[in-house]
Amino acid sequence: MSAIDYQELIPNNVNLSEDKTLKRALEHWQPNYVQWWKDVGPKDSNESEVYLRTAVSVDPQGWATFGHVKMPDYRWGIFMNDQIADRKVGFGEQLGRDVWQEVPGEHRANLRRIIVTQGDTEPASVEQQRHLGLTAPSMYDLRNLYQVNVEEGRHLWAMVFLLHKYFGRDGREEGDALLDRRSGDANNPRILGAFNEQTPDWLSFFMFTYFTDRDGKFQLAALAESAFDPLSRTTKFMLTEEAHHMFVGESGISRVVQRTCQVMNELKTDDPAKLRAAGVIDLPTVQRYLNFHYSVTIDLFGADESSNAAIFYNSGLKGRYEETKRTDDHRLTNQTYKVLEVKNGTLQEKEVPMLNALNEVLRDDYITDSVAGVERWNRVITKAGIDAKLTVPHKAFNRKIGALAGLKLSPQGQVVSDVEFAANQDKWLPSASDRAYVASLMGRVVEPGKFANWIAPPALGINRQPVDFEYVRFH
Ligand SMILES: [Fe+2]
Ligand SMILES: [Fe+2]
Repeated sequence: MSAIDYQELIPNNVNLSEDKTLKRALEHWQPNYVQWWKDVGPKDSNESEVYLRTAVSVDPQGWATFGHVKMPDYRWGIFMNDQIADRKVGFGEQLGRDVWQEVPGEHRANLRRIIVTQGDTEPASVEQQRHLGLTAPSMYDLRNLYQVNVEEGRHLWAMVFLLHKYFGRDGREEGDALLDRRSGDANNPRILGAFNEQTPDWLSFFMFTYFTDRDGKFQLAALAESAFDPLSRTTKFMLTEEAHHMFVGESGISRVVQRTCQVMNELKTDDPAKLRAAGVIDLPTVQRYLNFHYSVTIDLFGADESSNAAIFYNSGLKGRYEETKRTDDHRLTNQTYKVLEVKNGTLQEKEVPMLNALNEVLRDDYITDSVAGVERWNRVITKAGIDAKLTVPHKAFNRKIGALAGLKLSPQGQVVSDVEFAANQDKWLPSASDRAYVASLMGRVVEPGKFANWIAPPALGINRQPVDFEYVRFH
């Protein structure tokens, strides 16, 4: 395993000291990055010492150490997995040929676009979450928020490294632009829709880290198959970090549900009004947040039919999820896939060439993975002896991208009229009053071991520390 050099100004395992030009360019970008962090990173957090993990190796066993650090001093760096000797292209027209260590001229524009689009999501989520520290439900949760934030910052480093090293001057310009765009800014927004939405409260944050960070997992997994080997090695290491982000979301919602069920049992009621009076989040509200975050996130996979997706696959830029584990021909030229369309007022399946449907293939793999966690939330409900269930909505529900965009559908997938949709919208998606209620619960609880009333404590602390450990030292 290539060890990480922490003597350098920029920690790395990519022999940065041997490439003076690149090193200088990145050292020039670094203060701008730290300035960006101070400007739009976690609010009022620069003096706090946070119990964070920092990567020290890319060995899956023991790759991180834990310790209290001030976030602006976090050792953001450049890490990639070790090169696999004789790695071959695993799919598309170049199947079986050597992978690329440099960017082929004919794929330069597409690769740059892929890397910039991925890179843009990383700082965007930090910006979206910047106010959440002010309303953390516990010190434990505050630390997890900050951990996610510093690692999203590191993911930006990962993409900027690729841009600087392999794309020359345009790469450096893209690196600067990644620090200039702002989530939700009318004039210079982030690239993808979901990353311009607000993350106004912790229920949204947990849904975001469960659903939207999982989109990250699938995009990164598809890029980890890339014929462009540095992109593959970089994204593989990012996936190691990503697992914790989804854990924060899954366990966060699980603890919300657990607490709600506890109060439902105490009060012997499922009446949302009574549960709200008791200060917990009723399950129908959890369901509406779920419907929103799920539908916004599955839009991130793009149009269900896309000639770009076919080009990216054919040319070896982006594979499928777990491409190398699949047993088909990895070319897909004669295969078809089912996508949805509306015909005569109902949703119907149609067969299209699979190469054009690869966004849909990745979306469907994502859906399978998402549903599994929702079932784990349902086990919390069942265990409490309560007869209720959370479900993901139909995949055509509330879509804004692709052939299904703008369709009026119930969460169950029934096509409905505009009037019917309007009449039910507040049952299907978070209403203004849901959001106001959830916002009303958001008060800062940061005494070690104390938790806000609307969420259960976790079963375990971080890195085998007790739950009431001082995860954040305020100054
Ligand atoms: Fe990320
Ligand atoms: Fe993430």
